[in-house]
Amino acid sequence: MATTNEDNLKKIISHAKEYGYVFQSSEIYDGLSAVYDYGQLGSELKKNIKDYWWKAMVQMHENIVGIDAAIFMHPETWKASGHVDAFNDPLIDNKDSKKRYRADVLIEEYIGKIESKNEKEVEKAKARFGDAFNREQFLATNPNVLRNQAKIDEINARFKTCMNSDDLAGVKKLIEDLEIACPISGSKNWTDVKQFNLMFSTEIGSVSESASKIYLRPETAQGIFVNFLNVQKTGRMKIPFGIAQIGKAFRNEIVARQFIFRMREFEQMEMQFFVRPGDEMKWYEYWKNARVKWHKSLGFNENFYRFHDHIKLAHYANAACDIEFNFPMGFKELEGIHSRTDFDLKQHEKHSGKKLQYFDTEQNESYVPYVVETSVGLDRTFLAILSASYQEQVLEDGSERTVLSIPAFLAPIKVAVFPLIKKDGLPEKAQEIIKLLKYDYSCQYDEKDSVGKRYRRQDAIGTPFCITIDHQTLEDNTVTIRDRDTMKQDRIKIDEIESLLKSKFDIKKWL
Ligand code: GAP
Repeated sequence: MATTNEDNLKKIISHAKEYGYVFQSSEIYDGLSAVYDYGQLGSELKKNIKDYWWKAMVQMHENIVGIDAAIFMHPETWKASGHVDAFNDPLIDNKDSKKRYRADVLIEEYIGKIESKNEKEVEKAKARFGDAFNREQFLATNPNVLRNQAKIDEINARFKTCMNSDDLAGVKKLIEDLEIACPISGSKNWTDVKQFNLMFSTEIGSVSESASKIYLRPETAQGIFVNFLNVQKTGRMKIPFGIAQIGKAFRNEIVARQFIFRMREFEQMEMQFFVRPGDEMKWYEYWKNARVKWHKSLGFNENFYRFHDHIKLAHYANAACDIEFNFPMGFKELEGIHSRTDFDLKQHEKHSGKKLQYFDTEQNESYVPYVVETSVGLDRTFLAILSASYQEQVLEDGSERTVLSIPAFLAPIKVAVFPLIKKDGLPEKAQEIIKLLKYDYSCQYDEKDSVGKRYRRQDAIGTPFCITIDHQTLEDNTVTIRDRDTMKQDRIKIDEIESLLKSKFDIKKWL
């Protein structure tokens, strides 16, 4: 029986738990909805993804620097940014199941179903026409596909009109007209659509009378905006330049499903690129290309990625798109690229009373720069890597293995070292190899069970190389090194190990 997307996601969730990648938060108390903890391997993978992003954005660009701003910010920040008034999701409840949904997500999912119908048409035609099949031509001419596409365009246009004019009754009518049913109760018995603010708030100050309400930041970007002049002046930065940051963000998400895809506490990797007014569309295109290239550098199939232009622009943007990834649940947003104009800096000027301008020596004038933002979810990148890497394989001899083909330089454990047996000085020799390698690579020692079982364990956690010490090692200082992906084993000298690993993990090959 063919596996469904839901089955695939379930398998990834249970694999992530079984091998110490991701646990539900506070699990012994039955968990906390949409909050997760990263385990011993998950935290390593997460750290490696952060390093790779930081290298690509900060280390590789002379005109981009990084900061680490606080999660708490002055409450006026969020009034200025528009989050207090406008960081809302339209929510709708099903009266029978009492389940709450995001109205826009219900509509998106409906559109997703029509899109999958088109994909099925494509697959059928591909099978029929073989090598002669031309996807673009087929999509532009097939009557079924064209009819479906026209329907999608009509729904999108109606939804956009409603959202732009705050017509929540119109959104409800759209859901009713499309006959969207609650996935739990199956009923179409919906409440009115209401706006719901996603920011978490708490109080700062020790005495209740003097305490004031503050927010947990819903995006890291504002920490960059309020530090724009600090960084520009102290770093003597010249436009165009960027400020990057990795950090936690918090949103009281209504739809808290789909594992680490949509969490209430998550991490963002954001970069604000400050440019001359008028240059923003050039840089918007530049960063769209640069960012999708970064994702593709991980080496997964190119078909996992696609762009999706925003229909309803956020309050701060004059152009915006998502890089979408084909997650087990289908294509969904992985990263946002936004041309934010001078909205944020101008708002902070207005609310703080401080000038946030740049003096352009080439143009001999001061202005508030425009901003192009790249914003990628660290947890979504993690899920993308985990789901694209997860494979269940049947081998030539009929046996099976589950392997995580994580890009080698991101793997939590880089090298596993095994003594063939637990005696005759082999464990000691294996420990010597670990001592040699552990300055540069995360290593794991394993002496339990047969070597075959140990290989399977390392395949399941994505370790790219396993080194085995046997009796021959003691005679001629050679070991076998086994490649996770090809499963090929080579015999090499101990003093060749370091140079071999260096070439395999060389980040230049990816960046
Ligand atoms: N500063 C712009 C901004 O925050 P966004 O599209 O709301 O834009 C950027 O978020 C990225 O943050 C998304 O593309 C996604 O990868 C990640 N993200 C947003 N909400 C998330 C959530 N609840 N859980 C996990 N990741 C999330």
